[in-house]
Amino acid sequence: MAGPAPSADGSAARNPLTALTLDELRQRSSVKWRMHPPDVLPLWVAEQDVPLAAPVADALRRAIDLGDTGYSHGTAYAEALGEFADERWGWHDFRVDHTTVVPDVMMGVVEVLRLVTDPGDAVVVCSPVYPPFYAFAGHAGRRVIEAPLGPDLRMDRAALDEAFRRARAGGSRPAFLLCNPHNPTGVVHRRDELEAVAGLARRHGVRVVSDEIHAPLVLPGARFTPYLTVSGAEDAFALTSASKAWNLAGLKAALAVAGPEAAADLRRMPEEVSHGPSHLGVLAHTAAFRAGGPWLDLLLDGLDANRTLLETLLAKHLPAVTHRRPEGTYLAWLDCTRLGVATEQPAGEPGVASDLAGPAKMFLDDARVALSSGHVFGTGGAGFVRLNFATPPAILTEAVIRMGRAVDLSQSPS
Ligand SMILES: Cc1ncc(COP(=O)(O)O)c(C=O)c1O
Repeated sequence: MAGPAPSADGSAARNPLTALTLDELRQRSSVKWRMHPPDVLPLWVAEQDVPLAAPVADALRRAIDLGDTGYSHGTAYAEALGEFADERWGWHDFRVDHTTVVPDVMMGVVEVLRLVTDPGDAVVVCSPVYPPFYAFAGHAGRRVIEAPLGPDLRMDRAALDEAFRRARAGGSRPAFLLCNPHNPTGVVHRRDELEAVAGLARRHGVRVVSDEIHAPLVLPGARFTPYLTVSGAEDAFALTSASKAWNLAGLKAALAVAGPEAAADLRRMPEEVSHGPSHLGVLAHTAAFRAGGPWLDLLLDGLDANRTLLETLLAKHLPAVTHRRPEGTYLAWLDCTRLGVATEQPAGEPGVASDLAGPAKMFLDDARVALSSGHVFGTGGAGFVRLNFATPPAILTEAVIRMGRAVDLSQSPS
């Protein structure tokens, strides 16, 4: 029988999400596969169960064969992102000279916050949101103000207006850490929503820092808008990386991009920050943006299919659990409040990603499925779990069946 046709990049044209078996995945030593015992199906941290895209693996192999493991040099990464952004998102005025490499997205966020805010200043976030937004802002000596998402899980203009007003009170230099697209909801912000953010930010004197790590992962039906292409966003920053889309978290390298009115701020970034990313990371991320498009398209098809599979599985096995179809990312934000599991939050700040409570604890204990616990995503997260569906369909199916069985058992009269 003929195998799958080779794609333009030479790799077999198949869904990367069906390439690996559970036994192969269990050989991995990353946190997703080692945090829990082997009877647990891990659908928590944002790693994907895919092999490396061929152009990325080739770039790394070439470097290893050459012993090309010294220090990084040049702007190839930013050039590759610029070409990708132009082609995929219509970001035609991307400026390589307005970028700098940073160790990873979150360290980039911290370094940009150091440029545009002062210690003790406020950082606004739209909760529920990626837990390290709280932790990293805190480590940088900034305080977090929440502008909770609306009931439709989209940014709430009035909440942002109020949070920006509070953040600015006292004459400080506040920032808004935007998650574009949004983790954990999978919402892809529309241009009109981002324009409203830009208008409010200008009015209140708030600098916007847009985390765009999930940008390549926008699924059919939605379109990604780079924040720096929005009118009014000229003084903002974006942070991006190939890390989420091509599963390169272990090969650290990211880019900070300044809008035209933020370029002078970027020049104040200490030179040492650019020493953080590794040369292998830069090579891998460059190859992903430059030649990883065909692989990404196969992945997006696979994620789209998993998104639909998840809906079908939830309807069948967990009808009391609801969610809004994610428009991007590979994360589903599941409302488990109707399961009646106690959701009181453990003491402490949001932001410790491995903390478990409520439904996530029940699913780990009783279904042996590891999910992210909603309460660590801040206000609005308790009673929810985040499920990572970048996994083979067979694992996704088994996980939801187990979760459904655990709920049925917990609710059956003893
Ligand atoms: C929104 C968001 N930002 C940042 C990160 C982490 O990126 P990095 O490892 O480059 O710091 C993640 C990881 O899941 C994420 O979801």
